[in-house]
Amino acid sequence: MDGNGRWAKKRALPRSIGHKFGAQNFRKITRYISKTGVKILTLYAFSTENWKRPLEEVNALMGLFRQYLIDSLTDFREDDIKVVFIGDRSAFDPKLVELINETEEVAKNRKGMLLNIAMNYGSRDEILRAVKMLCRDVRDKGLDPDLITENDIASRLYTAHEPDPDLIIRTGGEFRLSNFMLYQSAYSEFYSTETLWPDFHEEDFDKAIIEFNHRSRRFGGV
Ligand code: FPP
Repeated sequence: MDGNGRWAKKRALPRSIGHKFGAQNFRKITRYISKTGVKILTLYAFSTENWKRPLEEVNALMGLFRQYLIDSLTDFREDDIKVVFIGDRSAFDPKLVELINETEEVAKNRKGMLLNIAMNYGSRDEILRAVKMLCRDVRDKGLDPDLITENDIASRLYTAHEPDPDLIIRTGGEFRLSNFMLYQSAYSEFYSTETLWPDFHEEDFDKAIIEFNHRSRRFGGV
């Protein structure tokens, strides 16, 4: 959800206001996407590197997460959205962790779109975590290192049991993954738009899908 800061700067507003409009857009676009037939949507809200931002900005983001998670609870229920948080939640304030756990718990039996919210998520951290699990299984459960499969890795990622993403949309005109789903994105289609996240609306999402539908996906074959 890139471009909140630039969106605010263009209007001579503080960056935190850009995040506020970004959070409003999070709420609106999630509802829209859940009605388009998309089965799984992941929104990258906060990376393991975002802690490097000024404390004031980090605090503003934490406040927005709290407020917008509470505000979105009704939307998620009305739209039958199942919510899962991916990333290391142990670094958050215990009150936010409680809200995260509650949000997941009330939504766990829902049958609609699965919404992954990536918070304190970093793909290198995710892979490292999976490697540690595998090492423990070798040490404690007799797992033979020569028999380790790709699936043994995938099933230890936060996205275990989810298919790889078909399409990765990056707003704000960047052309990099920024530590997002490095393992899972091997054959994902990439779409970058100059549109800044607070301005990324329904028609922008539709445009990305139309372009995706014209891609020829060969997964390394011919
Ligand atoms: C990147 O834009 C955006 C973020 C680091 C924060 C995104 C989070 C939200 C929109 C809140 C979502 C709310 C919930 C409940 C998950 P940037 O600051 O890097 O923008 P810039 O590239 O223009 O500086």
